[in-house]
Amino acid sequence: MTNEALDGLWYLAAMSSELKRGAVLRRILFGDPVALGRTGEGGAFALRDVCPHRAAPLSAGRVCRVGGAPALECPYHAWAFRASDGVCVSAPALSASEGRDPSTIGTRAYLLHEANGLVWIYRGDGAPETSPPDIGLDASYKPKTVTVVESEGPFDEAVIGLVDPAHTPTVHKQWWWREGAARQEKEKFFEPTPIGFKMPAHKPSSNTRIYKFIGGAPTTEIEFRLPALRLEHIRNDKRRILGLTAMTPLAPDRTRIVHVIFWDFAFLDLLRPIAQSMADDFLAQDGAILSKQNMNLSRLEHRPLYFGDADEPAKWYLKLKRAYAARKQEGGFKNPLAPASLRWRT
Ligand code: FES
Ligand SMILES: [Fe+2]
Repeated sequence: MTNEALDGLWYLAAMSSELKRGAVLRRILFGDPVALGRTGEGGAFALRDVCPHRAAPLSAGRVCRVGGAPALECPYHAWAFRASDGVCVSAPALSASEGRDPSTIGTRAYLLHEANGLVWIYRGDGAPETSPPDIGLDASYKPKTVTVVESEGPFDEAVIGLVDPAHTPTVHKQWWWREGAARQEKEKFFEPTPIGFKMPAHKPSSNTRIYKFIGGAPTTEIEFRLPALRLEHIRNDKRRILGLTAMTPLAPDRTRIVHVIFWDFAFLDLLRPIAQSMADDFLAQDGAILSKQNMNLSRLEHRPLYFGDADEPAKWYLKLKRAYAARKQEGGFKNPLAPASLRWRT
């Protein structure tokens, strides 16, 4: 199971802003080529980016309409596949006298869900087992900063970096975050959630400077959800900021890491370029350490050591993943975690 992406769940496929009307792009997701596009009317769609005829990438073709429905036309012999379900709706070289029905052919269509500037893709066959992620924001919240890093490294190791508290003082040394601030003893309370775990809203650590920007008496709630989603809600009495990090496996050793910050108050818009460059630095550091680990992980078998409370969240992730992968044999997914307090020095 290790490093394989779980099915039955939703992954971040793209930012809405990447999908232009009437255009299509190619992205390898879960090792498979996917054509991600947007129809002329604005609906996002995803088809397997392999023409069943002779394997030309459909993403090199064009978005068109056949019989009133949006479709994607192959660049080689112009077979067209309906955007909504991948059914072949036109094979222009067929003679009418042949009496063949192109709709017996198709390419796979993926389920998508678009909200708050994020496009989620469902990994799995048949009807979705889960709803698309609800990130708790109404539709007015749009991404204010977006950072994308693609890094070499095993998917599980990337996700573990997302829940690992102990790397922060060494990997993320920026002055605005906490440089020079001494390590403190911390005790954090965690509780299980439907498909993950969270640190319920609490006062942020006093040696982390960034929270001072929002003013008031902010609280932070940090949540992890399968397959690879971290949500950090920062709130004071008036304002709310959400930092979202989502990871998507591209290939067995390649992960796309996306970080997005949302807020809805104009005052912070002035700080947007600064927030963007902070987020860029932060994510680049996570991507860089993952590819350094991969210098070893890609050439040798390594059995990781989990040592102390700071490594508990990593074990929780693996435990959740195992339980989710076994859900069908076990008669449904039950979160195997229990509430816990963890102590560490960061
Ligand atoms: S390869 Fe796509 S139509 Fe021939
Ligand atoms: Fe990090």
